[in-house]
Amino acid sequence: MSAPPKTVLVATPEEEAKIRAAVRNAQGRTVAGPEHVDGLYRLLADPAVSAPIYDLPKPITRDSVAAWVAQSEALRQDGRCILAVTLDEAGEVAGYSRFTIWPERASGELAGAMRADRQNSGQGGRGVAQSIAWMFEHLGLRLIGLTAALDNVRSAKAIDAAGFTRMGEVESVRPDGTTRRSLYWEMARADWELRHRL
Ligand SMILES: CC(C)(COP(=O)(O)OP(=O)(O)OC[C@H]1O[C@@H](n2cnc3c(N)ncnc32)[C@H](O)[C@@H]1OP(=O)(O)O)[C@@H](O)C(=O)NCCC(=O)NCCS
Repeated sequence: MSAPPKTVLVATPEEEAKIRAAVRNAQGRTVAGPEHVDGLYRLLADPAVSAPIYDLPKPITRDSVAAWVAQSEALRQDGRCILAVTLDEAGEVAGYSRFTIWPERASGELAGAMRADRQNSGQGGRGVAQSIAWMFEHLGLRLIGLTAALDNVRSAKAIDAAGFTRMGEVESVRPDGTTRRSLYWEMARADWELRHRL
């Protein structure tokens, strides 16, 4: 139920095709597959991980997680989504990122979480910045829109620090149709490039 950015861009056909190809390729990310379903279920069963995120399957069961992984993979083949996992030294799923892409708008959004034992370590802020760089540079997006629950202080700090502009609030719709009020940010690639010009 991820919503596209408020700002509407129109991609050229060539730009759209390039973005779809980059999404299918997902270079440098570990794309979630059936072998990660148990680990993702263990990760998301912890409310400290999943409660702040509106676009996860509800309720979180092994079956709903398996369906979500399969649906995300089908969307990736269409150039619209990448569900990626982070594995720890033991090969356990220690985090996930889900990139939702609107290739015809050269736009995307990002959601993700880390296992509770890895939170509050400063890694989240760095992870957001790296993911944003990857979306602009590798996926070729020109606009990213992000949301966070009104009380999600850690996410808000990380998003502000990455250079996003606050653009009020939006009503986010969960897969079960209920809604959640969210803070809303956007950043255009041109602004990101200005920030990172040495
Ligand atoms: C959101 C998440 C990825 C952030 O990662 P993290 O490693 O826990 O966060 P960080 O340690 O990088 O902290 C982010 C910032 O919040 C600050 N912070 C943390 N707790 C805080 C608090 N209670 N009050 C004020 N600031 C706080 C940190 O100091 C840091 O700011 P800084 O970079 O200026 O020092 C992680 O906590 C997580 O997975 N949470 C559960 C799921 C979730 O909320 N996902 C995001 C949905 S939009």
